[in-house]
Amino acid sequence: MIDYSVLHYPEIVRINCAEPRANYVPYDTNDNQESSRCMSLNGMWKFLYYDSLGDVPSDFYKSANLWDSADEILVPSCWQMQGFGIPHYTNIQYPFMIDPPYTSTDTPVGCYRKVIELTEEKLTNDIFLYFSGVDNCFYLWINKKQVGFSKGSRNPVELEVSQYLKEGKNEIIVEVFQWSDSSYIEDQDMWWLSGIFRDVDLIFRAKERIIDFSIVTKFDSEYKDAFLQISIDAFTGEKLQGEFTLSDKNGTEVFAEPFNVSSESSKFAFKIEQPWKWSAEDPYLYTLTIRTKSEVIKQFIGFRQVEIINELICLNGRPLLFKGVNHHEFHETNGRTVTREFIEEEIRLIKKAHFNAIRMAHYPHNSFIYELCDQYGLYVIDEADLECHGIFNTGDRNLISDNQQWEKAYLDRMSQMILRNKNYSSILIWSVGNESGNGINHKKMIEFGKKCDPTRLYHHEGESRDCVKKETGRYEKDVELSDMNSRMYATIDELTDVAMNPSIKKPYILCEYGHAMGNGPGALKEYWECFSKYPQLQGGFIWEWKDQGIKENRQDGKRNYLYGGDFGDIPNDYNFVLDGLVTPDLICSPSYYGVQAEQEPIAVRQDEQDKSKFYFTNRNTFIAIKNLSIKAEVVCNEQVLHAYQYNITKIDVLETFPLTIAEPVNDNQQNLILRLTIKDYENPTNLMDYSPIIKTFILKEELVYHPSSVSYFSQYKKNSQTIHAVFNDLELEINRMTGSWIIRESKLGKTLLNKPRANYWRALTDNDFISGKNWLSNGVDYMETNLKHLELLLFSENEIAIELLENHGPPGQYWYLEVKTVYRFYPDGRVCLTINKKPKHNHPRTLPRIGFELAFDKSWSEFSWFGLGPRESYSDCSNGTYVDFFQQTIADLNFDYLYPQENGNHEQTRWVSVHNVETNRKLTVSSQELFSFSSREYSLQTLATAQHLSELEKDQEYNYFYIDFKQHGIGSRSCGPDVLPEYQLILEDTKFDLIFHII
Ligand code: GAL
Ligand code: MG
Repeated sequence: MIDYSVLHYPEIVRINCAEPRANYVPYDTNDNQESSRCMSLNGMWKFLYYDSLGDVPSDFYKSANLWDSADEILVPSCWQMQGFGIPHYTNIQYPFMIDPPYTSTDTPVGCYRKVIELTEEKLTNDIFLYFSGVDNCFYLWINKKQVGFSKGSRNPVELEVSQYLKEGKNEIIVEVFQWSDSSYIEDQDMWWLSGIFRDVDLIFRAKERIIDFSIVTKFDSEYKDAFLQISIDAFTGEKLQGEFTLSDKNGTEVFAEPFNVSSESSKFAFKIEQPWKWSAEDPYLYTLTIRTKSEVIKQFIGFRQVEIINELICLNGRPLLFKGVNHHEFHETNGRTVTREFIEEEIRLIKKAHFNAIRMAHYPHNSFIYELCDQYGLYVIDEADLECHGIFNTGDRNLISDNQQWEKAYLDRMSQMILRNKNYSSILIWSVGNESGNGINHKKMIEFGKKCDPTRLYHHEGESRDCVKKETGRYEKDVELSDMNSRMYATIDELTDVAMNPSIKKPYILCEYGHAMGNGPGALKEYWECFSKYPQLQGGFIWEWKDQGIKENRQDGKRNYLYGGDFGDIPNDYNFVLDGLVTPDLICSPSYYGVQAEQEPIAVRQDEQDKSKFYFTNRNTFIAIKNLSIKAEVVCNEQVLHAYQYNITKIDVLETFPLTIAEPVNDNQQNLILRLTIKDYENPTNLMDYSPIIKTFILKEELVYHPSSVSYFSQYKKNSQTIHAVFNDLELEINRMTGSWIIRESKLGKTLLNKPRANYWRALTDNDFISGKNWLSNGVDYMETNLKHLELLLFSENEIAIELLENHGPPGQYWYLEVKTVYRFYPDGRVCLTINKKPKHNHPRTLPRIGFELAFDKSWSEFSWFGLGPRESYSDCSNGTYVDFFQQTIADLNFDYLYPQENGNHEQTRWVSVHNVETNRKLTVSSQELFSFSSREYSLQTLATAQHLSELEKDQEYNYFYIDFKQHGIGSRSCGPDVLPEYQLILEDTKFDLIFHII
């Protein structure tokens, strides 16, 4: 009988498993690239899936014929991604009733079987089966004998299997359970996915071997010379001999020393004179080779030291600023099974945005990710696989965190993480987990950690939650056990308040900020201003790197992503799983570029008096910027008038280099900008694909639009109903009863322009969800127009002017905007609008936007503009954009957020032209004030109602064009602060003008 009671015994964490040890691969003494001591068991396994534990035949592992009809499954994989069971998404709530330690008694079960062949020679080793990750827990049988049991989904586990194996064929059976008591502490905000989802290896170890070792690098007080401390923490036998060799990046040997370990002496220290220091900016790695009689172990080492100095987190003696991001292991079709290649691609993109830190949210990741962080240079917060967020719904956050029954499980998660990952130089901070309250069990975890690894710092966001005073919501004291205060989504007010509060002394970081769900986050700039102003605020980690949408496999080939509820998963948290800077297929969203711009290592500033003088500042902490190449161009209407090239050989850390750009010739142009393209600086991470930094400065601009020449209507007439005028090959018709007007091509009768429709609505963003409710209850999504009065102001051969008095308001409500518009029609193709809007009665405080919608034939599809670009911008998120002259087709103007919503706005537009690719006509819109524009191939209604990308059906007839006087900011309210007051669109008296010009 299989003992299934382990599934609801938190005290039982593992049975018959080896002690956790450092991650390393043992090699044979004559191995080269691959290790002959490791045999991968990845590949196809036989698979039996049962919806319920009750359906698993008793003693199934003994059955001879059960497997004949079994399915096959790829290992590693998540079974829900392979067609067994369904992916299920919840954020906080558990998908089972809260009744700890019981979850679903009828848990789904996956039974795996693999037959392997072993030679006699292989059997002379001690043999271990190494599972890098099995979600949620499993029993192992070899040749029908039970070997062991293990919980802890994201922690590797190793079982000694020597005595179960024989020469020839061997049968390995793994019974994996979807739910157990440990699901209570694995409630991270992500898809629930199960199975053997990381690599499985059989490891053949020499009888005489090192089991575990730890590395520490320690500098002298000047951070010049260092000690490399190596301790052999566990080995087989009484004594062991071997040799340590350290070599530098180029393979040059630094030292080679024999060692002898016994129970008395197992610690070694080697003085290294002036080692090259490791940092995220210069991730220089040495290699330590540990050779014993029959094995070789290789370990990368970065010389670095993390500590608190003067109440600041310091690396190698200098305070750090974390430019961090939260990373989940996720792949669009494989779920939590990821490859090294995919992660490397992500890490390159992460580095490209100038991040220097990563938080392993919210569990230890695959071992190769840490290696890549060592190698590419990223400071790591490693986090224990622990979250019981769903328990908060009981009203007692510490229901299990304070419960002794769970102590062992908590401690296990801490020790697993530290003991396995302790030798990665990139890890600077250990975190006890996420969103689990702040209980006695956490205290034990930190105590254990500090004893076991005093060389790193400790993080616990839950402790910081208890530093907030309930009554006032104010963050009012330091954490006690952790080394830093750590907050999620704190407001700018809290940041400044903490920085000014002398009783808060410990460093303060944001383990999560800038919730990147959908369009947003807005107002990141304000966080960065705080970080650079107050040293105690040592940066933060954006939530989160990537949208965790599951790619739909569709017949029609459309790109589409699925989220909570799309699999019939109930209960679920809908699209809250789509909250990253990049999409699952690694397309960078506009906010990626926004963060990139904020984190650039080079800051450029123009002198306030002498406009030809620029200051280049090196914002790095450790390394000089070398060989900077700067291209300076004077640009007018997409044309480069002058270009100059400059080079700066070196700017030291925090130094500023002044550069005078040759005086731009004051050409007789309306609009002139200076564009600086900064590139080609050397960087030690060898990422040659760093994007150049582009900065532009306006040299000259005139917003007033000059008509080409004075001209006359060739015909113009009126009666009591209509006004009609002809100019060039166009004609104007105004309906004096309704106020509508139209300009059409006389011959073809095709409409070119008609009275633009006032528009106050936008497809709500994820961050609009509070304002959106308010706008909806005020009827802003459906506004009607009442024409009160039309007056013919002027009727002459070179100008016809009418004034319209209208009220715009929603049905059934007592508020509206009183709108006075004067339209002036000129025979040179201009239509000038002067608009006055006055809100009346019980109107909402803010609006999503104030502007116009125009519908055009499909052939109006190419855009050029002078304003912010090349990508979208909003009042509070424009960091990744600059003012320049741009050209794009309609499809490129927008960004496809996986959950359709407002996007593609372009702020600070001076003018925008739409070009008709068939008729070659052009319509230019300009104003005396900066305005916004956007355009789409489908209607606002389509965008507002679509819940998936695949529902964005292009309109057959029209393209839509939006001109906005203003849009409400974006904010971060999906999980964080709402739009800051300065970026809100407050509904008040507004006045603006617009010029349409058709040629
Ligand atoms: C945090 C949590 C994350 C994620 C985020 C919202 O509270 O730590 O795991 O849920 O909110 O997307
Ligand atoms: Mg959570």
